[in-house]
Amino acid sequence: MSLIVRQLTVVGVGLIGGSFALALRAAGVVERIVGLDSDRSNCELALSLGIVDEICDDPRSAVAGADVVFISVPVCSIASVLRSIAADLPPGCIVTDGGSVKAAIVSECDALIPPGCSFVGGHPIAGTEKSGAAAAFSGLFRAKRSVLTPGATSSDRALDTVTRLWTAAGAEVCRMEAQHHDRIFAEISHLPHAIAYTLVHAVGTADVEGENVLSYTAGGFRDFTRIASSDPAMWRDISLMNKQALLASIDGFSASLAELRRRIAGDDRDGLTEFFTTAKKFRDGIV
Ligand SMILES: NC(=O)c1ccc[n+]([C@@H]2O[C@H](COP(=O)([O-])OP(=O)(O)OC[C@H]3O[C@@H](n4cnc5c(N)ncnc54)[C@H](O)[C@@H]3O)[C@@H](O)[C@H]2O)c1
Repeated sequence: MSLIVRQLTVVGVGLIGGSFALALRAAGVVERIVGLDSDRSNCELALSLGIVDEICDDPRSAVAGADVVFISVPVCSIASVLRSIAADLPPGCIVTDGGSVKAAIVSECDALIPPGCSFVGGHPIAGTEKSGAAAAFSGLFRAKRSVLTPGATSSDRALDTVTRLWTAAGAEVCRMEAQHHDRIFAEISHLPHAIAYTLVHAVGTADVEGENVLSYTAGGFRDFTRIASSDPAMWRDISLMNKQALLASIDGFSASLAELRRRIAGDDRDGLTEFFTTAKKFRDGIV
């Protein structure tokens, strides 16, 4: 593939930022990648793993000469990172992010981006329960979706460039409005994480005649709860930043759970068969 941009600066060279850098390097669409990370040892690791060509300690030199800046830090820090670099962005620079929540970030970043530069909200629908540069790999986004949520400062040129970068990274790009994104991902990502954490919390603290119940877990429990090994601080921030949509999803889930409980308590064999059959059909339809 031919070059899309000369310099990409990645702020937050962790799982997502590091994997984006590796994927673009493997595709040959970026000439130089600069990394900035608040964790110095993680940044040095990214350099030694060949994820970035250069690391910087200060935001000003990290964004000097950048065509695109990818901010991939915890959701609650994305706007403050942009605030710290806004004055030093080169003219025409495109800033994009990988945060899992979009409405609040797009509105804050649109207000912070200087005239002549563009902000494009983004969220790759790919990840693992691991964190940091050591967890990054170039194939993370292959055959996965990446959602862009254009805002007031997303120029056509910026949208086109960010779309081409994600496509080069192997992702299929789709666009949607930021609030619509937050409602969808409350249901299919934030709610499952909340439930996985809650399930492990409930079972881990259950008292069955003094037994360590978790010592009996096997495949099903482990498959279902893999995502409860994700970074707790990341999920705290996502939960709070997408609070209203997540609360609505939790209420919907609680209603479903209460309905299941009602059918079990009432020995409702047909009702239970119908409940499980409907869910199985949905599940079979996605795999
Ligand atoms: N992990 C996933 O499955 C996943 C999937 C899609 C999107 N995301 C989003 O991607 C973003 C990054 O997540 P990740 O999984 O790569 O996390 P990560 O912990 O692997 O990487 C984040 C990196 O940002 C650095 N950092 C934190 N605050 C910083 C700051 N103020 N300035 C500079 N560096 C800073 C950390 O040191 C860390 O190296 C988050 O916004 C998350 O919502 C994560």
